[in-house]
Amino acid sequence: MKHWVTEKLICPDCLPEETPLALTSRQQISDDVLDGELNCPNCGRSYPIRDGIAGLRPQKTFRTEICNNGYNTPLMLSAYLWSHFGDLLEDGRAADAYRLWSERFQTATGENAGSDALDVGCAVGRLSFELSKTHDRVIGVDTSTAFIAKAREITGRRQLDFHMIVEGHLTQEQHLDLNHGWRFENVEFIVADALALPFRQHGFASVAAINILEKVADPLTHLAEVNRVLRARNSRFLFSDPFSWDPAFSSPERWLGGSKNGTPYSRRGIDTMRRIFAGEFGIFDPPLEISDKGDVSWKIRKTENLWEHITSQFLLGSRKQDSG
Ligand SMILES: C[S@@+](CC[C@H](N)C(=O)[O-])C[C@H]1O[C@@H](n2cnc3c(N)ncnc32)[C@H](O)[C@@H]1O
Repeated sequence: MKHWVTEKLICPDCLPEETPLALTSRQQISDDVLDGELNCPNCGRSYPIRDGIAGLRPQKTFRTEICNNGYNTPLMLSAYLWSHFGDLLEDGRAADAYRLWSERFQTATGENAGSDALDVGCAVGRLSFELSKTHDRVIGVDTSTAFIAKAREITGRRQLDFHMIVEGHLTQEQHLDLNHGWRFENVEFIVADALALPFRQHGFASVAAINILEKVADPLTHLAEVNRVLRARNSRFLFSDPFSWDPAFSSPERWLGGSKNGTPYSRRGIDTMRRIFAGEFGIFDPPLEISDKGDVSWKIRKTENLWEHITSQFLLGSRKQDSG
């Protein structure tokens, strides 16, 4: 974990109290801590840094996340690496979803100067890398240690190598040199929970939460955490989701759409999200003004013969200089 991340960190177990963490480094290369601890002076909890990966999941959700996280398997690693980098591998079947999502921030170029970005549920990091072109520093967080380890490997090597699954144990080697203007030294990836982000309030000018809302146990808490870490002025939140609600991830009473009746939410998730951006339900304060919206086609390639084609609906919410 790069040293500069420390100044943003707080103890996720002490939330809503924000207690800065103290870094102990036992081994580091340049500013990258490979082995050490982040200690909370308030609750006494110690968060490990092993092989450069900081693990900042709160104790209270740690067990659940480990049991539920199917994103640590070789199949999912192969699937998401192809999904994130397939266009750069010049696979004609790849979508250009990450270019489309990252361009939403490029339209605000100039406003981003001197600002940091957070990519919540970053998987193997493509959007975080893209955001490094338009932001000073970028942090990607995910609960999958396998994804974060790979994203850090890519950052360090500036190359991508992986075994792409063809069928069963049959794989095909993939290699890519990454010279796309990404500022690798300004990007970091840590293991953390979207429901208890280990960051100080208002520390990010941009936050992206792409295809994660439907995957967390408590979608409203996830959005409240985005509100906490997003700057109150001159900031933007890119939200995108297919709203494919699944009781395996969150119980139906917590879904923000897709219910026939009996909830305060709209029937369609995108309509609920518009209301939440506007300040309903007390999540976004100050509210977010919708400055862009649309659909992004996104693909996941699990094996040569198993693909998922997904439509993800996005909203870009902005807070202007004079709001709040
Ligand atoms: C559907 S994938 C989307 C990944 C990426 N944003 C993209 O669009 O390619 C959902 C991601 O959220 C991560 N995730 C699930 N629950 C999480 C949580 N509570 N906190 C942080 N990340 C989580 C998963 O590990 C996975 O990488």
